[in-house]
Amino acid sequence: MNARSATALLAGLLITHTAFAADPAATTEHARGRYLIAVGGCNDCHSPGYAESGGALPEAEWLTGSNVGFQGPWGTTYAGNLRASAATLDEAAWLALARTPLRPPMPSPSLRAMTDADLVAVYRFIRGLGPAGQAVPAYVPPGGAVRTPYVDFTPRSPSGALARN
Ligand code: HEC
Repeated sequence: MNARSATALLAGLLITHTAFAADPAATTEHARGRYLIAVGGCNDCHSPGYAESGGALPEAEWLTGSNVGFQGPWGTTYAGNLRASAATLDEAAWLALARTPLRPPMPSPSLRAMTDADLVAVYRFIRGLGPAGQAVPAYVPPGGAVRTPYVDFTPRSPSGALARN
């Protein structure tokens, strides 16, 4: 590479970098938060319609929480409205929540395995989306009355009998 093309390359990189840094939606932390949410599968449970859309659900509709319960030996749980949580919790409270064991099928160990910096990137990305959606129904303990549709995660054998896994 001669000096002229090296200068042109450098100038190009600088312009790219400046444009990147000037766009708040494209900061590294923002992109990382979005990436972690995408690979973490958070939308599959926390964003109604996401899985059905093959992942094409617009970002503005992400993570508003689901009114379809997940029922199993743990009772019936609802994937919460993360837009509301991120809007109301501060960073420290979000980190504390993320470090708390949550009930299945929330992949709590995956969340707890994230570094603080990753959890903060996730939090800031969601907070940046702004609040949206409604609160999800409260957790129902095993045997309690469930008033919403739910997905049954109870392990059964083909005869229909309850199975141990
Ligand atoms: C397989 C479904 C599923 C996936 C995938 C999932 N969650 Fe959850 N999540 C749940 C359920 C169900 C609950 C409620 C758990 C409970 O009641 O204890 C929950 C609760 C939470 C909570 C606490 C409640 C709240 O509303 O603030 C946070 C925070 C959370 N999830 C974040 C995430 C993040 C971030 C990801 C992606 C890395 C993720 N979840 C992926 C199902 C899921």
